[in-house]
Amino acid sequence: MKIGIDLVRISRIVKIAGAPFSGRTQVQEQKMSDMFTADEMIHCQGKYVSLAGVWAAKEAVSKACSGVPIIYIEIHWDTNGKPFATLDTPEDGHVPYIPVSISHDGKYAVAVALVED
Ligand SMILES: CC(C)(COP(=O)(O)OP(=O)(O)OC[C@H]1O[C@@H](n2cnc3c(N)ncnc32)[C@H](O)[C@@H]1OP(=O)(O)O)[C@@H](O)C(=O)NCCC(=O)NCCS
Repeated sequence: MKIGIDLVRISRIVKIAGAPFSGRTQVQEQKMSDMFTADEMIHCQGKYVSLAGVWAAKEAVSKACSGVPIIYIEIHWDTNGKPFATLDTPEDGHVPYIPVSISHDGKYAVAVALVED
């Protein structure tokens, strides 16, 4: 079993995406869609704290998987709202369920991921 953890300062998302409700430039929109899937953005409903948690979860999975590119990782939620990740890489194919846990408080969001060997 491999473990990954990541801590994200919420202001980092604000820096990338622009202040909430201020409207995004095309560059900011592009950066956001490079970082988050449409479903992730819909789930987070524009809440930067939640997006920071999703980003932390992706980084945690990447860390647990020896630096796999974030582009291959997606975060989903079960019917109880519990998050999990999927991984799709050209080398290893589809990994359908990677448990992740997300928390946030104040300026930071944190996430851990567990990946089977
Ligand atoms: C969900 C819960 C863990 C949130 O705890 P909290 O201390 O208020 O908040 P945290 O910052 O630590 O965690 C929030 C994150 O937990 C995650 N989360 C949400 N629901 C979850 C669940 N059921 N299980 C695990 N994680 C959950 C989300 O990623 C959430 O982030 P988001 O709100 O930005 O999407 C807490 O309210 C709880 O234990 N609820 C029980 C809900 C449950 O399991 N219901 C199912 C029926 S039994």
